[in-house]
Amino acid sequence: MEEDLRRLHSEAHEALAAIRAPQDLEPFRVKYLGRKGRFTLLMRQLGQVSAEERPRLGKLANDLKVALDEALVLKEAEFGAGAAKAARAGEDLTLPGRRQPFGRLHPVTQVMNEVCAIFEGLGFAVAEGPDVETDFYNFEALNIPPHHPARAMHDTFYVNDTLLLRTHTSPMQVRTMQRERPPLRMIAPGKVYRCDSDITHTPMFHQVEGFLVDRKVSFADLKGVLALFIGKMFDPKTAIRFRPSFFPFTEPSAEVDIGCVICGGSGCRVCKHTGWLEILGAGMIDPEVFKKVGYDPEEYTGFAFGLGIERIAMLKFGITDIRLFYENDLRFLAQF
Ligand code: DAH
Repeated sequence: MEEDLRRLHSEAHEALAAIRAPQDLEPFRVKYLGRKGRFTLLMRQLGQVSAEERPRLGKLANDLKVALDEALVLKEAEFGAGAAKAARAGEDLTLPGRRQPFGRLHPVTQVMNEVCAIFEGLGFAVAEGPDVETDFYNFEALNIPPHHPARAMHDTFYVNDTLLLRTHTSPMQVRTMQRERPPLRMIAPGKVYRCDSDITHTPMFHQVEGFLVDRKVSFADLKGVLALFIGKMFDPKTAIRFRPSFFPFTEPSAEVDIGCVICGGSGCRVCKHTGWLEILGAGMIDPEVFKKVGYDPEEYTGFAFGLGIERIAMLKFGITDIRLFYENDLRFLAQF
């Protein structure tokens, strides 16, 4: 028995010394020190040795087992405690680690920041206002009285008789003009809401409103500022055209088109074969709006413009379905 014990002991220590990888430690432990391991089995035979021999051999067996236990702990430490534990859990520490993915700005936020940075570079201040707006600021003060047909174009979400989700960022013109005096140079980025949904409309989207009010502001100033903006936002050589249009809060009003950034003007599906893409609305602030905020339209003039961020992002990145922005699919978002 004693000889068996000593032989097992030296065999086990040799086997332990030969171990080179942490994942081999656990099988070793099971084989020698486990409940059905070699040491346990041998110690069961102690019942068969004589009563005089039993205490000595029992102690010897126990000492050898403890020594092997300690050697195993030392060996585990050699690989690092984590490694041994991981090996026991069946993990392979030689696998490459999982990378923590980097977050990034949503494409709409990126374009929004870019638009704001360009206008800030031109001396415009940034103002933000409430998403829940009053009928007065969203419509009335912008020369859109109750029952005016222009209201029908806005697909408004009403909160109650006087409150609504703003349908555009233009109310910020009124809020700013009420609060401050000219000269004013301001942009107002933010979310707007319309009850509309298809491949080019989402019920919530983003606009940037811009306006400038001072003495002797002309349509030429408007053209100059927008041309500069478009040149920075797209290519400096981008073609621009102003098309006469109508908005209740500007007179005269224009819609601004750029040469199609997809086909370069030769005609494609995106520009509906016209070679032009509409990107914003603009005009000279209507005297009726100045009267609502107590400015003398004889003394002050100004221009205003409004642009949709998603629309610009779609053109810049070549995205054909606006709803992709709001599905939060990381495979889409990670591309920007
Ligand atoms: N508020 C308009 C809209 O949401 C956009 C717009 C057009 C704003 C002309 C303006 C403007 O300031 O002058 O459709």
